[in-house]
Amino acid sequence: MSMKLPFFKKKQNDINSQCDIEEKNIPKHVAIIMDGNGRWAKKRGLPRIAGHKEGMNVVKEIVKAARNNHVEILTLYAFSTENWKRPKTEVDFLMRLPKEFLHIYLPELIENNVRIDTIGNFTDLPNHTKEAIQYAKDKTKNNNGLLLNFALNYGSRFEIMRAIKEITMDIDCSKLSIDALDEKVFSEYLYTTGLRDPDLLIRTSGEQRLSNFLLWQVAYSEFWFTDVLWPDFNEEIFREALHDYQQRKRRYGGI
Ligand code: FPP
Repeated sequence: MSMKLPFFKKKQNDINSQCDIEEKNIPKHVAIIMDGNGRWAKKRGLPRIAGHKEGMNVVKEIVKAARNNHVEILTLYAFSTENWKRPKTEVDFLMRLPKEFLHIYLPELIENNVRIDTIGNFTDLPNHTKEAIQYAKDKTKNNNGLLLNFALNYGSRFEIMRAIKEITMDIDCSKLSIDALDEKVFSEYLYTTGLRDPDLLIRTSGEQRLSNFLLWQVAYSEFWFTDVLWPDFNEEIFREALHDYQQRKRRYGGI
């Protein structure tokens, strides 16, 4: 028998008639494009970095929400390979956020059995960012609760090109035969090796595009968009997304 998680208090204008979250059909892997920090700050007459700072605190709230709602993997798009084009002050600020986040929240994440990992080009991150993240990865590597997976310096096209280059090299030196190359083997060459594909992809801020995020992995993911800007996102809205996911019929091309 499926258990129901605590009743979800609806907003007055909520069009869903029922927002109970059934434990049996929870998206195991949720990926989020956390968008709208800049607009959130601009609306308040604040510098863009104030939006990123607020966005960092929302990360903590959504990690908790994911744990509360039995999500197993949470992949957050924190910095794309294209984000280097932003002004240096903003890039520098974004690169300091992981360290700041971990400085504040790592003890609590450890206490709650969260494992921290990243996808993306780790080598090209500044040393201080790498060190803070590596420390957190090492400290949490034996945890088996929620996997908190930051996409940092991540770009899906880069990831796919990198996979193709590695596959080519492995074929050249006979570590891999071309006949053995199939979708499953190809997936093993991606940053997400070993991870199930996202069941649900959320994007905040009203934009409805993928922005070079997990292009291969979301082939059969369910998408959920909200106009809410990331710094205003919260557990209640997260649960709306989970509830909506639970009404979907995933057919993977079948009937
Ligand atoms: C996109 O919004 C957001 C980002 C590029 C950065 C996202 C980062 C965080 C939410 C904080 C991450 C926290 C940790 C711990 C790594 P935007 O700046 O493009 O917003 P806009 O479209 O309104 O300008």
